[in-house]
Amino acid sequence: MSKPILVATRHFPPAVEGRIARDFDVIFNDLGRPFTQAELLAAAQGADALFVSPADKLDAYFFESLPESVKVIASFSVGYDHIDLGAAAKRGVPVANTPNVLTNATADLAMLLLLGASRRASEGQDRVRSGRWRSEKLKELLGRDLGGKTLGILGLGRIGQALARRARAFDLKIHYSNRQQLPPEIEDGAVFHSNADELLGVSDFLSLHVPSTPETRYFLCRRRIELLPAGAIVVNTARGNLIKDRDLIDALKTGRIAAAGLDVFDGEPSVNPGYLDLPNVFLLPHMGSATIETRTAMGMLALDNIDAVLSKAPAPTLLHV
Ligand code: 8YV
Repeated sequence: MSKPILVATRHFPPAVEGRIARDFDVIFNDLGRPFTQAELLAAAQGADALFVSPADKLDAYFFESLPESVKVIASFSVGYDHIDLGAAAKRGVPVANTPNVLTNATADLAMLLLLGASRRASEGQDRVRSGRWRSEKLKELLGRDLGGKTLGILGLGRIGQALARRARAFDLKIHYSNRQQLPPEIEDGAVFHSNADELLGVSDFLSLHVPSTPETRYFLCRRRIELLPAGAIVVNTARGNLIKDRDLIDALKTGRIAAAGLDVFDGEPSVNPGYLDLPNVFLLPHMGSATIETRTAMGMLALDNIDAVLSKAPAPTLLHV
């Protein structure tokens, strides 16, 4: 019996590619850059399933042009701001994401950014690597303690909650803002702010964990930066366009914001050049889920969804409009 045809717009960890090779005739994107929409649509001709990532923009035009053969799309991500789910539903193609399996890895990375930004890790590392570490300087590279400060979490969902658990071990007090207050067993002592602007007022550290939507886009702008305590530290592992880069860069230059830890960028993989010369930013190239265990689990979950839809069984994590 012939195998179903899968278009994979990325390469994946070995166990995932092994399963793909076993179960599918696969077309990989080997271009070293994302497919253009036209290239993806061309590759999709005759394919049964597409395995995409946030670098692939699946908009209304894409779904209108999608070949009839395509029965399911899985994204290697929990975020789905790159997919027009309404258009997918109209075309009748189920779409899956990969929630849960990347929660801990992403929360670990948010903690790394909090520590890296507050303890001036970029500057310290640069000093060692550039050979400028000569004598002990007791007044230099002084960071900020976490203990006793307040961490504001915008969006106490799965990843926000996992970050809160970690942050408690560093003696941070947790405040959060969500659309709705969570039950006490999930809050676990975290203080709720119904108004996100109010959360900013108490956040010595602010970590963003909301999806990118028209409502959250450019959430952290000049006006809201002014609401943060002077010398606050900002961390973003969610989506780059939650932050107005120009406004954050200005605030980092004046020290109004003491430091930032950023894993995601508006327009990535391009990064606003204003960040690059700033000593007080700790920058990573969108690595939140980048552990072998997590990326393998994400791939397996995506394939579980594809297999389920192709065999007409219930799929574990389909997205609904
Ligand atoms: C992905 C992400 O791993 O899951 C998401 O939404 O942003 C990342 O963790 C990355 O985009 C690779 O697909």
